[in-house]
Amino acid sequence: MKLKPTLLTAAIALLINNGGAMAQSAKKQPDNVDVKVKTLLAKMTLEEKIGQLNQYTGDNDATGPVSKNNNKLEQIKQGKVGSMLNVRGAKDTRQIQEAAMQSRLKIPLLFGQDVIHGYRVTFPVPLAEAASWDLGAIELSARIAAKEAAASGLHWTFAPMVDIARDPRWGRVMEGAGEDPYLGSLIAKARVHGFQGKSLGDLDAIMACAKHFAAYGAAIAGRDYNSVDMSDRLLWEVYLPPFKAAVDAGAATFMNSFNDLNGIPATGNSYLQRDILKGKWGFTGFVVSDWGSIGEMIAHGYVKDSYDAANAAITAGSDMDMESRAYIGNLQQLVKDGKVSVKLIDDAVSRILRKKFELGLFDDPYRFSNEEREKSVLNSAENKQAAKEVAEKSIVLLKNDKQLLPLSKNVKSIAVIGPLAKSKKDMKGFWSIDWAGADENDLVSLYDGIQHKLGNNTKLLYARGCAIQDSSRAGFDEAVKAAKDADVVIMAIGEAGDMSGEAKSRSNIHIPGVQEELVKAIQATGKPVVVLVMGGRPLIFNSTADNVPAILYTWWLGSEAGNAIADVLFGDYNPAGKLPISFPRSEGQIPVFYAQKSTGRPSVNDKDIIYKSAYLDLPNSPRFAFGYGLSYTTFKYSDLKLSKTKLKNTETLTATFTLTNTGKYAGEEVAQLYLHDVVASAVRPVKELKDFKKVMLKPGESVTISFVIGKDKLSFYNSKMVWTTEPGKFELMIGSASDDVRLKSDFELVD
Ligand code: GLC
Repeated sequence: MKLKPTLLTAAIALLINNGGAMAQSAKKQPDNVDVKVKTLLAKMTLEEKIGQLNQYTGDNDATGPVSKNNNKLEQIKQGKVGSMLNVRGAKDTRQIQEAAMQSRLKIPLLFGQDVIHGYRVTFPVPLAEAASWDLGAIELSARIAAKEAAASGLHWTFAPMVDIARDPRWGRVMEGAGEDPYLGSLIAKARVHGFQGKSLGDLDAIMACAKHFAAYGAAIAGRDYNSVDMSDRLLWEVYLPPFKAAVDAGAATFMNSFNDLNGIPATGNSYLQRDILKGKWGFTGFVVSDWGSIGEMIAHGYVKDSYDAANAAITAGSDMDMESRAYIGNLQQLVKDGKVSVKLIDDAVSRILRKKFELGLFDDPYRFSNEEREKSVLNSAENKQAAKEVAEKSIVLLKNDKQLLPLSKNVKSIAVIGPLAKSKKDMKGFWSIDWAGADENDLVSLYDGIQHKLGNNTKLLYARGCAIQDSSRAGFDEAVKAAKDADVVIMAIGEAGDMSGEAKSRSNIHIPGVQEELVKAIQATGKPVVVLVMGGRPLIFNSTADNVPAILYTWWLGSEAGNAIADVLFGDYNPAGKLPISFPRSEGQIPVFYAQKSTGRPSVNDKDIIYKSAYLDLPNSPRFAFGYGLSYTTFKYSDLKLSKTKLKNTETLTATFTLTNTGKYAGEEVAQLYLHDVVASAVRPVKELKDFKKVMLKPGESVTISFVIGKDKLSFYNSKMVWTTEPGKFELMIGSASDDVRLKSDFELVD
């Protein structure tokens, strides 16, 4: 395995050498911006102020239920619109901005878009990128997306989605960073820095938008838009930390969520938006509602009509109204009726205007809409190379019995089989941008990737075998024949690219159709079989997992999917991905996640089930655990030492250990640190991820790794919900996965 300095490594170094992004929130707004905002605000009529709070969608890529509204351009000219979403491209944004420049005060529009995992070049879906545990790679992915989007007239992305998700029935699990607040918080920070770059106002920086505030990923039964009911403890311990990390990273905007939280819809929730976000956390950006969520408070049964909805939302701190038209239709009357003070509106407007000034839009409203720059930045070879490298880092090796992988490049013939083997569009996954008809040229399927890698040296056979979702087995014979004619079989199965994502909840997350039967039929030929599972969420595939010798989870890897997978299949890249979310054995297990509490009757193993907290018909453990992922090489963990075994909460202790590459390939390992606060005034999970290090080691090479443990890693919300530490024993675990602890020790916090 050769170690090549990759573009990605170089780019990450550049990113870091430039000091990465500076935390924006800590930076006081330059005074002149506040003066400019106040001066402009003083000139605005109430109607013009309300116009700034109003956001409409463009007519092309509507991302929600569209309602008739055909005089948008007129309204823009009248200063009744503050932002547009789903309008993109230097030409189109310039055209619409020209309409805004005809308004009395010429206040420029903000253009926003869901640039979730790439703009022109598609990167892996966010959950896949989270599997890389490579914060530099994740930041770079967002950086490149921002450069392309900013060159295409966009000022703002509705990303990162930072919702913790522990229920893979919920289709939007693909958009986030998985189940863990520690990993999720670091990834939120990386993505905000990636999108916002060194400073808002730079021509390659776009506003980030931390969403969906809050706890949207805990929708009951994994059903999208469903209610969320949780204790304050769970909210603060698990669901809020990534949002706080986004604020600390300087996120310019937030988006609230569709769900009610304990009965109060997020968009009308003062506790979330005013007490926590703008109050305790001091957030100075603005909050945009999710699509129509203000008006949806009527359906929630929280308000009786649009008038009350507008009142509830503006009062609760929703600054901008995406597509519900409640604000433009009611705020003027609410002020007249004395229900809403102009002060509230002024605060919301000021927050929005401040961002427009920061982006330099008052100096030049068209500065992001430059067709020349757009042509030179979008879809560059460097961007594609980076997408390939991020994709490689996202692949998780789940099984590799008898070291079947990597395959030799001299193999004579390969049968590439399965409904996703030649698919291109599916590789983009949900929340990718549609470039009419460009997919054929832009996207690399698995089959293409293998062909690029092996050229004509190897005979490639192909059979689809079956569809993704239907029950026809008519293609099995052709597939079996192809397998019999080949030396090795590579199969691509999974879900379609639009089966995970918004409004894509599924009660059954087994691999759909008859694909696993196809795997069995191919296995029966006795040929060596490698299976690639593709999807945006954890899928269930127990039969394949039990019987196939080599399995790679390749998610939706974006534009360069096939090239990245081929690099892994043939050993030009040694996979190092680790699952950011637990994979259940059955839907009946959900929610299954590693940071479980002990309970009073813990089941210590899968057999210990009588009068224990366990299922009678299924092990408690997931099929694949959080933090799990193999490599073509092996790693040994040894020589754990603690700098002390007793510490005060004002001190730190350092745990050091040796990691050795004991195999024959160079490879990366993500060594993970878990802690367990054994006794506490509120019971703690049996383990919580508190740190990790990703290191590259050559065969035989060893490195000493240190984890520094201090108050921040030992604190929790006590029985009174006070963030504190409590004296007592802590168990320390270091390992290769949450269920693969290699080194253990313990220490005592003495005060
Ligand atoms: C959608 C999504 C949100 C997205 C917005 C704009 O309904 O919930 O994540 O940013 O609308 O497309």
